[in-house]
Amino acid sequence: MPKILLFGAGSLGIPYAWVLSNAIGQDNVTAVCRSNYAEASRNGFTVHSKLWGENLHFKPRVANSVTEAVEQLAGDSDNESGGEKPVFDYVVIAAKAIPTTPSTAQLIAPAVTERITAIVLIQNGIAIEEEYATLYPNNPILSTVAYFPATQVSPGVIQHREIETLNVGTYPADAEAAHKRAAELFVDLLTKGGATGKLHDDVQRERWGKLLVNAVWNPTCALTRLRDRQFIEANRSLDLGLDSVGGGMGDGLGFIKEVMLEIAAVAQACGYADVNEELVDFQIHRAAVRDLPGVQPSMLADVNEAKSMEVDAIVGNAVRLARRKGVNVPMLKTIYLLANGLSEGFKGK
Ligand SMILES: NC(=O)c1ccc[n+]([C@@H]2O[C@H](COP(=O)([O-])OP(=O)(O)OC[C@H]3O[C@@H](n4cnc5c(N)ncnc54)[C@H](OP(=O)(O)O)[C@@H]3O)[C@@H](O)[C@H]2O)c1
Repeated sequence: MPKILLFGAGSLGIPYAWVLSNAIGQDNVTAVCRSNYAEASRNGFTVHSKLWGENLHFKPRVANSVTEAVEQLAGDSDNESGGEKPVFDYVVIAAKAIPTTPSTAQLIAPAVTERITAIVLIQNGIAIEEEYATLYPNNPILSTVAYFPATQVSPGVIQHREIETLNVGTYPADAEAAHKRAAELFVDLLTKGGATGKLHDDVQRERWGKLLVNAVWNPTCALTRLRDRQFIEANRSLDLGLDSVGGGMGDGLGFIKEVMLEIAAVAQACGYADVNEELVDFQIHRAAVRDLPGVQPSMLADVNEAKSMEVDAIVGNAVRLARRKGVNVPMLKTIYLLANGLSEGFKGK
C-alpha cells in the first residue's frame, strides 16, 4: 500500500485525508497537525458532508512535525521483517499558500525521497509550484485545483458543502512519463476513496480559470469586508461609467469584470487563449445571480479573524507573471498593494 503524508490538516486536508484513508487504509495516512494536534491524536477527525454523509469519523496516524512522521514510518520498518525501508509515496500539501520561514517546501524535506515521493499541492493560486520544482527537481509535482467548499468548524471537525472535484495534473504539464503516472495513480486513489478526481494534461488552464474569480473577489471582499453580492449592491449606482461593463448590474460588477479581463490577458500571454471574455462573463454571471448576502471568500474569512491571507499566491504571482509577460494590469496591481498591506498588518498578531 502507498504511504501518504498530509501536511496541513485543515478544512481541505482533512476531507482529502478521509478519501485517501478510504482508498489505502487509515494506518497508511499520516497527518501532520498543528493547532488541532491534541484533538486529532485523541479523537481523530470528523467530516460532515452534504455529499458524502454526516459524521464520517476516521483516525489516521497523527504527528506534530514532518520529522516525527518520518520517525514513525521508520519505526514501522524496524518492526517489519525483510521489507524494504518504507518511504512516503505522496506528500499532500493542504496548508494555505502563505510565505513562511522556513517555507512549506523546506519543511516537508525529511519526508521527500528523491525521484519517488510525489508532492501534491492542494492549494489555490498561480505559479505556486515553482519553489517545489526548484527544491525537488527529480520528484513528481502534482498541481491540483479544488472545488470543495469546506470549513473547519472546531478542531478536527469539518463541514463540507455542495460540490467536490479535484482537478489534477503534473507540473510542468510536459513532465516525464513516470511523473504523469504518479498523477494517474493519485486520481485512481481519489476515485477509489469515493471522490471526484479529474486528470488533466495541463492543469494550469484550470488554475487560471479559478484565478479569474479568486484574484479579484477574494481581495475585493477582504478589503471592503463585504460578501460578493453585497459588494455588487453597495456599488450599484456610483455612476462611474462601468455599469454597461457590468451588464447593467452597476459599477461594482463592472469593476470586477475589468479586473477579471486583466487576469485573462495574463492567462492568454501565458498561452491559455480560452481564458477569455466569454469565460469572464460566465464567472461574472455566477456572482450576479446569487442571493444576498452572497459568498464569503476565504480572504474575507481570514480578515474577519485577523489572519494573514494568501495574497502573494493568488494576486502577487499573477502581477509578477504579468510583468514578466509585459501585460499591463494597473487595477490588479493596485488590489495587490492594498491587500498585501492589509495582510501584512496581521503579521505577529
Ligand atoms: N476551504 C475551502 O473551502 C477551500 C476550497 C478550495 C481551495 N482551498 C485552498 O486550499 C488550501 C487550504 O485551505 P484550507 O481552507 O484547508 O486552510 P485551513 O483550513 O487554514 O487549513 C490549513 C491547515 O494547515 C495547517 N498548517 C499550516 N502551516 C502549518 C505548519 N507549518 N505545520 C503544520 N500545519 C500547518 C493549519 O494549521 P493551524 O490550524 O495551526 O493554522 C491548518 O490546519 C488553500 O490554498 C485554500 O485557498 C480552500
